[in-house]
Formats: sequence, structure tokens, C-alpha cells
Amino acid sequence: MNFERIQYCTMFDSINAGIYVSDIENYKILYANKFIKDIYGREPIGELCYKVLHNKDYPCIFCTNQIIKETKDKPYIWEHYNTFVNKYFEITNKIIRWRDGRDVRFEYMCEMSKYKQVQTELLMEKEAIKSLEAKLKKTNEKLQILSQSTITALSELLEQKDSYTASHQTNVANLSCAIAKEMKLPEEQIKGIKVAALLHDIGKIAIPLDILNKPRNLTDNEFNLIKEHVQNGFEVIKTLDFSWPIAKIILQHHERMNGSGYPNGLRNNEILIEAKILAVADTIDAMSSHRPYRPARGLGEAMAEVLKHSNVLYDSEVVKACLSVLMKENKKNKVITQKNFQYASNHSEINKINKNIVCYNI
Ligand SMILES: [Fe+2]
Repeated sequence: MNFERIQYCTMFDSINAGIYVSDIENYKILYANKFIKDIYGREPIGELCYKVLHNKDYPCIFCTNQIIKETKDKPYIWEHYNTFVNKYFEITNKIIRWRDGRDVRFEYMCEMSKYKQVQTELLMEKEAIKSLEAKLKKTNEKLQILSQSTITALSELLEQKDSYTASHQTNVANLSCAIAKEMKLPEEQIKGIKVAALLHDIGKIAIPLDILNKPRNLTDNEFNLIKEHVQNGFEVIKTLDFSWPIAKIILQHHERMNGSGYPNGLRNNEILIEAKILAVADTIDAMSSHRPYRPARGLGEAMAEVLKHSNVLYDSEVVKACLSVLMKENKKNKVITQKNFQYASNHSEINKINKNIVCYNI
């Protein structure tokens, strides 16, 4: 062996990867570095590559000899799990010219077992996370169905006792959601507003029907009893595990901006925005509905009422959004009669408070 060849062999023996050369026609190994000898535990030169590397008595079906004959100058890179030594390799094959002039197969085998193990563990972790996410999604769906069933059951219970309050809750939910959308609140918050609105008067279930539907003015004691519906509702709903502050919204839906509301006389920033929205939607629906103690006062009058008390009893942004919703709705369906609109537009406060809104052509 000349000096140059000895130098190459020394260099190849110091590399932590397998290098060997084999005859492309008869599969005999012509050269192998120390890595190959160590990993396969034998001197492979002169032996068949499939016997040494794969412990087989015939050429491998995945043998790349044919491929590299076709790719010629281009190296062919592939990954392979060697079942004989239980290791992953990234393999580079290329045809090279051997010292006697024939074309031979050059193979560079870079072991990737550790990398593959990490990759496999990462994949398994990803799979585990995916499976956990799927389970979580299913649990959330079940919880949503459970929440929906709870709302439906409570509404049906109230419907049996007092159908006005049950349908009032649905109307308030629709208007509240429309206001919240108009105010561009996040989708998740709007879902909470809908649930709270659908249950906001649930506490009335504990109030005698003859007081709820009394066709005359209420006495102070009777009115105080009705006021208890917010606390009653809070006590019932706080036991349910919602992902929104439903009980608190219910408790606050009769609070007013100037502190004149009940049950705690909260002011402006102390009141949740969800409760402020419910307060406006509640007033609009209550005033425009017929009650045993008074006829329906109409949407126009209801609009005038909330505008009159904008920033005093009701949040001005909520009022603005509510009127915008009603105006848009009126444009489509003429929900506000001419007479009622006349009432609303004649109201001095409307022009003063929100010129933009009355500009709608209704
Ligand atoms: Fe209420």
C-alpha cells in the first residue's frame, strides 16, 4: 500500500461512520473502514456485502446497485433501518472508479439511531397530544351539550310556570347577542351573554305567579319580592360550572350606571359589560311587550326610554349599539311602526344624544 492510500485509510478509519466499497456486479466488498469492522464484528473485505451487512444469503430487495448505475454521477441518499444490527442509517451511495478502472459502489453510512429515537419520541408525544386534544374536544362537546340541556331544562321549567318570562328570556338573548355583535365583542363572550340572557330571570321561578302577573300596581312588599329574583337566580346558577360568569351577570342585570339599581347599587365600572347589555335588551323587550298590568308600549317608546337614560341608567355605548341594531332590523322588517317611530323621533333626547342613529331612513 502506498503512502497516499495509507493516509486515506487512516482518515476513513477515524470517521465515526461506515465507509465501504463493493463490486457492483458480484457484491464482493473491496474496502471497509474500521467502523464497519467494529459494528459487524468481522473483517469484511472479500466477503459478500449482503452477507456481512444484512446476514442474508442473497442480494437485498432494496439493494440500490441498479439505481446508482442509472443515477451515475449523482449520489443517491436514502434512509435504512438495518434489522441485523438494529440501527438506523442515512446512506449515501455513488458509483466511483476503482483503482483497477472498473465502476464500483461507494457507500457512506451515517448512523442516525439516536436522532431517529428522538424523532420517534417526538412523534409519539405529538400523537399523545393529538389524542389528548381529541379527548378534550369530546369532553368540551359533552359539557356544552350538558350546559345546553341544563339551560333547556331550566327554561322549560320556567315556561310551565310563566310563559311570558320564558319567551322574554329568548327575546332578550336574541337582542343581547345582536348588541354584543354590533359592539364587536369576542365570539366567546357573546356565547356567555346568550347563556346569561336565556337564564337571567330564572329566579322568578320562586315568585308567586299572581304577583308576577298582577294586573294592578305592585305594593312595596310585592316589588321587593320581585327584586329578589336576581339573588334567587344567582344562588341557583352559581352552583353550575359554566365557563362564563353567568351567575354574576344574572345578579347584576338590574344594576344601573348611577347606582340606582338593585340588589347592590353598583355603579358604572363595577357592573359587567354583559350585565349592562342585558339591562338594555331587558328594558327594550319588557317595554315593547304586553303585560297584564299595562298594554305594550312599543319599540319606539322603548327606544326613547333607553336613549333618555343613556349614560345615567344605561351604558351609552350599549344604547348606541342597541339602537343601531333596531334601526337596521327596522330597515329590513319594519319592526317599528310609524306611530312608534314618530314617538321615538319626536323625543327631544334622541336628537341630542345620538344624531347618527336617527339619520337611518326608517
Ligand atoms: Fe330581571
